[in-house]
Amino acid sequence: MSQKRALLIIGGGIAAYKSLELIRRLKERGIAVRVVMTQAAQQFVTPLAAGALVGERVFTDLFDQVQEFDVGHIRLARECELIIVAPATADLMAKAANGLANDLASAVLLATDKPVLMAPAMNPHMWAHAATRRNFARLQADGLRFVGPNEGEMAEKGERGLGRMAEPEEIRDAALALLVDGPLKGKRALITAGPTLESIDPVRFISNRSSGKQGYAIAAALADLGADVTLVSGPTGLPAPQGVTRVSVETAREMLIACEDALPADVAVCVAAVADWRPERTASAKLKKDKSGIPSISLTENPDILATLSKAKKKRPRLVIGFAAETDHVEEHARAKIAKKGCDWIVANDVSGDVMGGDENAVMLIAKNRTETWPRMAKGSVAKKLAEEIAKALEAKAPRK
Ligand code: CTP
Repeated sequence: MSQKRALLIIGGGIAAYKSLELIRRLKERGIAVRVVMTQAAQQFVTPLAAGALVGERVFTDLFDQVQEFDVGHIRLARECELIIVAPATADLMAKAANGLANDLASAVLLATDKPVLMAPAMNPHMWAHAATRRNFARLQADGLRFVGPNEGEMAEKGERGLGRMAEPEEIRDAALALLVDGPLKGKRALITAGPTLESIDPVRFISNRSSGKQGYAIAAALADLGADVTLVSGPTGLPAPQGVTRVSVETAREMLIACEDALPADVAVCVAAVADWRPERTASAKLKKDKSGIPSISLTENPDILATLSKAKKKRPRLVIGFAAETDHVEEHARAKIAKKGCDWIVANDVSGDVMGGDENAVMLIAKNRTETWPRMAKGSVAKKLAEEIAKALEAKAPRK
């Protein structure tokens, strides 16, 4: 997916501090953020703070020769897929509604041909004023989009009312709705990937050779189709895919908790190689050689995440998909697994070759009423094909089982 870029214009209001949080929230979703600050905004947060979060300079001046030659207001207005104004003050709204362009923020808003999302923030009296009502109606008619304001406590002591800026998460979601496209737009996906790691003592553990490549590729492919993806990952050396929220865990039990926290989801794909067993007890100090000979480790069963999600009474994802590694009787074993775990589809790997840790995969897609054998292909291609199948299934009213 090509990286989406947002230009954030920070206006001068007490809510400006929340815009710093908004930068983090946008970046978490893989969105590149560039910042313009008005003069007034700099009374509330510093360009240094915002610049540290975006990792580049913040733009503040229309008439600064260096800034204007370097990027310039026309490029700022165009080199993005969305402009977000947060907080959108009464003053910024008035300027934009009337086409004024006497500072960098207003000049950018006049020069842009990109969608604009405003998050108004002001005192309830200012929001209710006839002039602001007029400007708001005009901006809506001009095609600008709005999120908030919300009802609530004002910065001024004891004042409540409509005028509080929307929360950073709400603004992020409104921005994502405008930035993201694809058949899975608005759908939530949960992926597990990688191995789990189960401690024996502070330095030793039980784990497996899963690289996480297939699960990461599926997370990326679903995000490419517009899904809101949470990737719950055991330890791997892989970077989080663009636009995916990664939650890092170690043990199977942590993985289960992270998955349950990520619900509700429309689809869950369990690709992780969860350790079937963990040591019954984890020693709090390192086991020493000399103590009492060779220690024996007794094992206990880990929770089955795929089965738990499949059988969940509340919040069961509409489509639950598991993976299976088989060397023989692939279809037969996979069907037994569907029945045992209660999932909808199994993607069965034929692991008789070098699939574990390799870059290619030979799979069968097995659902209750169909079996497809896919040719051997790159893990990225398996992921794309599976993501397309998921999109088709979720588009249908009742998922094809
Ligand atoms: N799985 C899980 N939690 C576990 C064990 C497995 O979520 N504790 C999921 C895996 O992510 C995968 C599927 O269940 O989607 C694999 O099932 P499993 O019964 O472990 O099968 P295999 O490892 O393929 O083999 P076997 O049946 O021989 O144990």
